[in-house]
Amino acid sequence: MRTLVTGAGGQVGLDLIRALLQQGDVVHATDLGPRPEAAADLPADLPWHQLDVTDPEQLYTCFDRLQPERVFHLAAILSARGEVDPALTYRVNQTGTYNVLEACRLTDVRQLMFTSTIAVFGPGLPETVGDDEALHPTTMYGVTKAASELLGEYYNARFDLDVRGVRFPGLISASIPGGGSSDYVVFMYIDGVRKGAYEAFCRPDTRIPLMYMPDGVRALLELSAAPRDQLSRCIYNIAAFSPTAQEIAVEVAGALPKGADFSFVSDPARQKILDSWPSVLDDRNARADWGWAPRYDLPAMTEQLLPEIRALLETRADALDH
Ligand SMILES: NC(=O)c1ccc[n+]([C@@H]2O[C@H](COP(=O)([O-])OP(=O)(O)OC[C@H]3O[C@@H](n4cnc5c(N)ncnc54)[C@H](O)[C@@H]3O)[C@@H](O)[C@H]2O)c1
Repeated sequence: MRTLVTGAGGQVGLDLIRALLQQGDVVHATDLGPRPEAAADLPADLPWHQLDVTDPEQLYTCFDRLQPERVFHLAAILSARGEVDPALTYRVNQTGTYNVLEACRLTDVRQLMFTSTIAVFGPGLPETVGDDEALHPTTMYGVTKAASELLGEYYNARFDLDVRGVRFPGLISASIPGGGSSDYVVFMYIDGVRKGAYEAFCRPDTRIPLMYMPDGVRALLELSAAPRDQLSRCIYNIAAFSPTAQEIAVEVAGALPKGADFSFVSDPARQKILDSWPSVLDDRNARADWGWAPRYDLPAMTEQLLPEIRALLETRADALDH
């Protein structure tokens, strides 16, 4: 299938492209930035287009020329960075998504895959949060993602554009974090390996839903491949595991030969974001409609992630000073 990816140079994009190429798709990678260093292992002839989703003309021209059958729309400003520059976040996440929907409609794209987030929910949630819990996000990131979910549903109903999406938990992979509020998790692995210590920016009892990236990428591919008439909705919660920060610290320290010294000093701004998110997601609709099931829990992820983190540190340690 001819597939275009926006925001292709980010944490999800590069892993998604690897999986798409493996299943035989013709992939056009697009991003605001040039092909990043982290894409070194991808084929040299992978088409890489510099494309700004805030520019509707550029989007339309690109889609019209490439005629993608399917678009994975990943381009976004994530939660922590989003609070630093709400205006940019609105332009990229909200106007950008509208522009992508319009370009899909005008060029007859068959399917648009959207990546939403647990940040669409807000404070005061029950312990377990289902798909239809009220959306009262308190960050610009969450506000723009909630509105984009609704826009997607509108285009699905009004223009019959096949819009599908998942609400990702915090995604964990061996890559340099891009400004998400769940970055403390990856830094426990990275700094645990390279320094034997890390001071997390949250309380030890902070509990948010997490997912290992291979499960996240597989969720996108499986939802995309599901027969449309089996789907009862456009946007689905997907869940894997929900450890506290302390539980992650114990798991990582226990898996490192020399252990690790983890401490916790809560950063008020990021803690507020984390506390507004769900602790546990109910993903029963994804399981029933398209057979979603995670393969990794915290120990299984840790076993696979640590060697990946060591390999990352061999090549990218200089980019990690924070
Ligand atoms: N990583 C997570 O834990 C997580 C969790 C929930 C949802 N998501 C969603 O998944 C998607 C991908 O996330 P990610 O972790 O890969 O993010 P990322 O920050 O690593 O990558 C985002 C990419 O978007 C690009 N971008 C920014 N502005 C752009 C613009 N104007 N035009 C085109 N591209 C632009 C950036 O250059 C970057 O390569 C996002 O939509 C995000 O909201 C991610």
